[in-house]
Amino acid sequence: KVIVLDFGSQFTQLIARRIREAGVYSEIHPCNVDPQKIKDLKPGALILSGGPSSVLEDESPQLDPSLLELGVPVLGICYGMQLMTNDLGGKVVSSEDREYGRAEFCGSAECSLFEGIEDLEKLTVWMSHGDRVEKIPEGFKVCGTTESIPFAAMADEERKMYAIQFHPEVAHTESGITMISNFVFKIAGLKADWSMASFVENSIKEMREQIGDNQVVLGLSGGIDSTVVAVLLHKAIGKRLHCIFVDNGLLRMHERDEVIGFLEEHFELNVKCVDSAKLFLDKLKGVEDPEKKRKLIGYTFIDVFNEEATALEDVKFLAQGTLYPDVIESESFKGPSAVIKSHHNVGGLPEEMDLSLVEPLRELFKDEVRKVAYELGLPEFIIWRQPFPGPGLAIRILGEVTEERLEILRQADKIVQNEMHATGWYRKVWQGFAVLLPLKTVGVMGDDRTYEHVIALRMVDSLDAMTADWSRIPNDILARMSNRIINEVKGVNRVVLDISSKPPATIEWE
Ligand code: XMP
Repeated sequence: KVIVLDFGSQFTQLIARRIREAGVYSEIHPCNVDPQKIKDLKPGALILSGGPSSVLEDESPQLDPSLLELGVPVLGICYGMQLMTNDLGGKVVSSEDREYGRAEFCGSAECSLFEGIEDLEKLTVWMSHGDRVEKIPEGFKVCGTTESIPFAAMADEERKMYAIQFHPEVAHTESGITMISNFVFKIAGLKADWSMASFVENSIKEMREQIGDNQVVLGLSGGIDSTVVAVLLHKAIGKRLHCIFVDNGLLRMHERDEVIGFLEEHFELNVKCVDSAKLFLDKLKGVEDPEKKRKLIGYTFIDVFNEEATALEDVKFLAQGTLYPDVIESESFKGPSAVIKSHHNVGGLPEEMDLSLVEPLRELFKDEVRKVAYELGLPEFIIWRQPFPGPGLAIRILGEVTEERLEILRQADKIVQNEMHATGWYRKVWQGFAVLLPLKTVGVMGDDRTYEHVIALRMVDSLDAMTADWSRIPNDILARMSNRIINEVKGVNRVVLDISSKPPATIEWE
């Protein structure tokens, strides 16, 4: 495996992903991790990520020198290059002209990192740095320059130490993937043995060992993560997996039957559906504040789930669909970021139940979860379902949530979904949905005045939900959605389109 030490770069996850895409398992650890832990992991190679700090500052994150003496190949990227330079006896200075974005790199064909790359004397690379290397450490050779920096790449082939000032992991760097592959395969001699088939096999084996002949409980939401966990666990332990599906009454039309029904039928999952729609609606009565809604729904979910889980006998484990980005986030050496919205997650089980966690997806990125889903034979309509928030339609109904308003939104939402499917846009947008606004406007129908609800359409493009832009859906599709909603949904006489990006807006309206 390849260990990536994270010094805080926004691209660190990309490094690990590129290596995995090449077929080699890679893990990220914070730069202040106990060095013994890294040694115990017996890495086949080490990568030092970039980072926002300057090695010239006193408080900047440091590299434990013993990690450069493991005898495994090391690649330093950006801040990683400056650290290696500093630690091995070279010199880093702060640059007057900072370099951000595109640069032209001229590399040396003799360096094994650049083997097989064409146009090496004129390669577009992506830079993002203030400091630069002024003197390289002893034993190293320069193997690349740019117009503004004389040492853009250096290598000590004998000790298998390499460093580059630019970012090979970003898509804008030409042949960046070849450099990473050269490092992993040619220099470190690793084999491409990380595939989703081997992941499934290993994960089933590991879960069987961890769980023994005990029982496991899982909160199934119908989303891709909990569904994949359920199917994997079912393969590992069969009917000893107990899935609990809490129907909070805030789901889309037919959602429960489509997804959960399908899983029960085709994967023989053991699912207990708890119908709590009335309980949730009672709690939401009169509540208009978005954070209050979110918290109420979160707590009520936990209460219902706990009651059901406690009623099961002999359960020793709780399964969760935790993904790798959550793990990195919680282990990261940066502080937690500000709470914009309280997201709703399973948690807070009663202590007396004393459950241990089973988290088979802890090592995976989202796109890898989708690959596992294919591997497990899940159908496309589950694999490519758009994300749906835990608090459901409640945060798409601005103002009070009532049965009547839920029904209006469900019908409008169904039309948006249908039209996206029919036109092939469902897979092109990240999320597309309807929002019910807390106001009424005047309209005219036949010869009569109407005074009815407004629906907003929200359709966005995104890669990870962190940033998003509104989707440029063709006007005739929007026109059809609007016409159908106004004609078919009783109580709606106006449809508007949300054209804000995130930031500064968010994807959901609450
Ligand atoms: P925002 O509105 O913050 O949403 O831009 C980002 C993404 O997260 C989804 N979302 C949630 N998912 N529980 C979830 O599981 C929640 O409470 C929640 N709130 C928002 C939202 O649909 C979008 O994909």
